[in-house]
Amino acid sequence: MTSVPSATKGTLRVAVLASGNGSNLQALLDRIAAGHVQAKVVLVVSDKPDAPALARARRAQVPAVVALPKEPGEKAATYDARLLALLQAEKPDLVVLAGYMRIVGPAIVRAFAGRLVNVHPALLPAFKGLAAVRQAHEAGVAEAGCSTHLVTDDLDGGPVLLQAGLKVRPQETLESLQARILALEHLVLPRTVQLFAEGRVAADGRIAPHPPSTWKARQDLDLVSGAWYSEGF
Ligand code: GRF
Repeated sequence: MTSVPSATKGTLRVAVLASGNGSNLQALLDRIAAGHVQAKVVLVVSDKPDAPALARARRAQVPAVVALPKEPGEKAATYDARLLALLQAEKPDLVVLAGYMRIVGPAIVRAFAGRLVNVHPALLPAFKGLAAVRQAHEAGVAEAGCSTHLVTDDLDGGPVLLQAGLKVRPQETLESLQARILALEHLVLPRTVQLFAEGRVAADGRIAPHPPSTWKARQDLDLVSGAWYSEGF
């Protein structure tokens, strides 16, 4: 998929928070550019000023790209108030946490209840928190994957929206498993955004059936070999 300016396409206004590489942000921008997601990314914020995610956003001509590092000694609630003001100024319909490594505080969770989404590299409710793929790998699970979920005050505990999974290979390394799960995230996160664009996600996370979907067939999914995906095509 090509990376053409995508910020002007679509109607759903999306803000993305990312701390790192931003490959999930890129996957979303690419799916928007390809016409698979009817959204526009209006704001990208990173708490890490040197995060590659910011460069990706600038390259895609996202209109507002902001580095928002925490000030030394700044309280979490004060930082969150600054972040909330930034978000509210752009009036997003949806806020996406795509590899955002800070806990989003209650003021933001409340302001965007039902429209704040996280992508997590585990089949929730299993393996919440940090290093989720490592947790799954060390536990020796037969199946692993990723989830998108609504963000609530319960860390990684809000209603699950979509999941995709795969069978762990015999003797699979952690690095291999991480890469294969990340590839699934790149499908599941954009697809989740499209469900919001279609107005199909209820405030409690339930997804309305019978999609008037832009992705009609399994062939559109780019699934890695042996993977499964939870939406009924
Ligand atoms: C993803 O695995 C995400 O689930 C986790 O951090 C990783 C971020 O990857 N929270 P990227 O920055 O989108 O490339």
